Amino acid sequence: MGTKDITILAIESSCDETSASIILNGKVLNNIVATQSVHEKYGGVVPELASRAHQENLIPVIHEAISTSGISKSDLTAVAFTRGPGLMGSLLVGVSFAKAFAQSLNIPLIDVNHMQAHVLAHFIEDPKPKFPFICLTVSGGHTQLVLVKDYLQMEVIGQTQDDAVGEAFDKTAKLLGLPYPGGPLIDKHAKEGNPKAFEFPITRMPGLNYSFSGIKTAVLYFLRDKLQENPKFIEENLNDLCASIQYSLIQMLLIKLKEAVKEYKVKEIAIAGGVSANSGLRNTLTQLAKEKGWNLYIPKFEYCTDNAAMIAMAAHYKYLQGEFVGMDVTPLAKMKF
Ligand code: KG4
Ligand code: ZN
Repeated sequence: MGTKDITILAIESSCDETSASIILNGKVLNNIVATQSVHEKYGGVVPELASRAHQENLIPVIHEAISTSGISKSDLTAVAFTRGPGLMGSLLVGVSFAKAFAQSLNIPLIDVNHMQAHVLAHFIEDPKPKFPFICLTVSGGHTQLVLVKDYLQMEVIGQTQDDAVGEAFDKTAKLLGLPYPGGPLIDKHAKEGNPKAFEFPITRMPGLNYSFSGIKTAVLYFLRDKLQENPKFIEENLNDLCASIQYSLIQMLLIKLKEAVKEYKVKEIAIAGGVSANSGLRNTLTQLAKEKGWNLYIPKFEYCTDNAAMIAMAAHYKYLQGEFVGMDVTPLAKMKF
């Protein structure tokens, strides 16, 4: 390692993924992720169990990140962590560890905004979007349209006012009797179904904002009525139900994206977050980009879901700008850009 090298250990612990990554001079060397399976049987993330699992997984994950990177602890020039937004108990585990580690090595601390990091995941590998671009971040915890002017200069131009789109996938999947997380299963069944078989509402919010709570209630009442007529309704129509629900969710996402493109006159379009794995969204968006002449960027799936490589990427740019935090830093469950 040269003396001018920037070598950062980054830690992500905002929700139910414990992750560590090493970045050397802006190049991500690895991305170690421990996924918590403890939540499956509860049908959603249980915060208290998430904190405990982070506590268990964090040291092994960091150990693996360091040992597979070819660097040694003494080469590190900074430690970065997710400060928020996220579950308070989960964040506390990462923040506390990062502080102790930085203190023991006498190196600076870098705090990272998880939502900014989702956007910066696009800079881990080629092709990279050009500034300015619009990023649609869609996951179980977030749904945001972000105007990205520079690495650390971003503005939220629209976001959900209630549930995240991933939550809408998971909650409607639960109504269909599918296990958690139901998003990937809706995707799977939708491939075999007719998206126009049933009509579910497309909620339109003012401006570039979203609302995804209505569809859950609509599906609930729709199923209740249909099941009264035919107790096997879900079983017999599962593929069409999934395709129709997915269709409405994708339409809602894309209507606002198209409006954002028009308003900001930007044709560089990126998507991030776990829901960008959805094949219906990918296909529709790819088709739309072709029609409209947009350049579309979708990162590798491992960088779409929660991961420390994106935290490392954000930390690298913050390091270059000399943006460090003191030992009195605390996590923020809600954190603005
Ligand atoms: O980014 P992520 O791993 O975690 C956060 O929520 O931050 O996203 C998880 C969300 C879950 O709601 C999951 O159901 C959804 O992404 N998801 C999908 C697909 N794969 C993951 N939703 C629809 N289709 C998929 N293929
Ligand atoms: Zn996330």
